[in-house]
Amino acid sequence: MKNIILDCDIGVDDASALIMLLKNQQKVRLSLVSTVAGNSKIENVCNNTIFILRNFATRWVSVAVGASKPLYGERKLDASDVHGEGGLGGLKVEKQSDAKFTTEVAEEKIYKILSSSKRKITLVAIGPLTNIALLIKKHPEIVKKIAKIIIMGGSISGIGNITPFAEYNFAWDVDAAKSVVESGLKIYLSPIENANNMPVCDDEILASLKDAEHAEILKKIFLNLQDGSVPFGFALHDSCAAAFLLKPNLFKTLKCDIKINDDKKDKRYGQCFCEIHKKGKNLVFVPKNYQKVKNFILKTTFGG
Ligand code: RIB
Ligand code: CA
Repeated sequence: MKNIILDCDIGVDDASALIMLLKNQQKVRLSLVSTVAGNSKIENVCNNTIFILRNFATRWVSVAVGASKPLYGERKLDASDVHGEGGLGGLKVEKQSDAKFTTEVAEEKIYKILSSSKRKITLVAIGPLTNIALLIKKHPEIVKKIAKIIIMGGSISGIGNITPFAEYNFAWDVDAAKSVVESGLKIYLSPIENANNMPVCDDEILASLKDAEHAEILKKIFLNLQDGSVPFGFALHDSCAAAFLLKPNLFKTLKCDIKINDDKKDKRYGQCFCEIHKKGKNLVFVPKNYQKVKNFILKTTFGG
């Protein structure tokens, strides 16, 4: 049983990733969900997280509130055009009153769990990396308690989705992304090319929808989305990170060095390249067969 902590900015594809993990509690034990602003403001991300857990979790999972803005400066990017005003597509989530959050902020709660755990824990980071950067900055020694970190972000070839050069999670907090990439953590990166090459369409979702109990919620979140970064359908980027955690043998892993452009004056600010070579300090993973990964994501998110 893998103990994991999920750091997310729920968001539509984050919701898919969380649902995939919740439907595989026999494989992974979710010790904590920590939230970070990104796709939507932190209040919405927290509300959405509680909503998904209340509807899909079979046991209590702690939620910690994280960063509402990047390490330095104010929040500039917002993805409501893709993820909807509230962050869950067409679903209007009512305020989750009496929602309970940890007393500690995200990075302190993650630190507490890691330092008290007898075994190393895997982190899965599918939003901006602000919380993870704060964790390492405040508690650098904690890196040794992290088995690995699976990150959705960046790209292999320097392409972007929020600009032609920068991927959203890294662009939202470039300083955080750079400091995590250079932290010495064992990083497994899921780049945007993965989901870009297998966008999901409404008819595929409807054909996979066997989860009668949650059908209406799932249809409202995942149907009729407009994802401008792919020619058709929706790119479920975070679902690829969850799929790697649950079924790593569906992917090929390559050694690389992840390079991030942090020159604020450069139009390519936030651009990420994976320099693939045998002595690479990081790892990047890509599907061995895109259709198999897509089928797994569809079945695990929308299946009964
Ligand atoms: O670029 C894709 C990433 O940005 C995904 O994590 C999506 O949820 C958004 O956060
Ligand atoms: Ca996300």
